[in-house]
Amino acid sequence: MRQERKKTVVVAICGASGVIYGIRLLKALLARPIEVYLVISSAGLSVLRHEADYDGGPFSDFLKQQEVSFHWDARLYHHDVTDLFAPPASGSFRHDGMVVAPCSMKTLGAIASGMAEGLIHRAADVCLKERRPLVLMTRETPLNLIHLENMRRTVLAGATIMPPCPGFYTRPETLMDIVDGTVARALDQIGIDNDLTKRWGDKDLV
Ligand SMILES: Cc1cc2nc3c(=O)[nH]c(=O)nc-3n(C[C@H](O)[C@H](O)[C@H](O)COP(=O)(O)O)c2cc1C
Repeated sequence: MRQERKKTVVVAICGASGVIYGIRLLKALLARPIEVYLVISSAGLSVLRHEADYDGGPFSDFLKQQEVSFHWDARLYHHDVTDLFAPPASGSFRHDGMVVAPCSMKTLGAIASGMAEGLIHRAADVCLKERRPLVLMTRETPLNLIHLENMRRTVLAGATIMPPCPGFYTRPETLMDIVDGTVARALDQIGIDNDLTKRWGDKDLV
């Protein structure tokens, strides 16, 4: 008999501003006994270089520089965006959800139109057809009608549109408090318990 499946999450980082959200999401996931399948678009790699000084080396080394510590039973599988043989490309691969953090308008458009060309778009398409959680941390402002229509289409198909819009009712004190507040909401969406931020109803908040 097969062992019970560990929590498994697909994470994509696209070339929108705010790659810090993807990094913090990985940090939160890898601190737990979770399997993470990571895909980064080529524009995502460029923005990682620009916004987070990624040097193009092994991504796990970069994460360690970013003070990501790995739970002994966490696993990180990093797949190239062109790798359509990777597990998340198939509906028979079971996982608990996919988060695209951040999600560019291009990737949003590809998902909304069913253009499953690379691994990120294909894995998102598979999530929708398999009715698995798909969280798109869409980042652009202001939004044009095409962006809004694409958001509408993906929501109707089952995705969660989650722009990184910080809430201030938790009284964040640092930039990382703000980022973690958004990451916490994304983790909630895929059923990963976390205490990255205060919650309404916490004694010291209300
Ligand atoms: C520094 C930088 C920041 C960018 N920020 C955004 C952004 O916030 N939102 C967006 O939709 N595109 C943004 N772009 C443009 C995308 O990177 C571009 O459309 C790219 O083709 C997206 O590809 P991907 O979805 O495969 O990652 C940015 C580009 C650069 C170089």
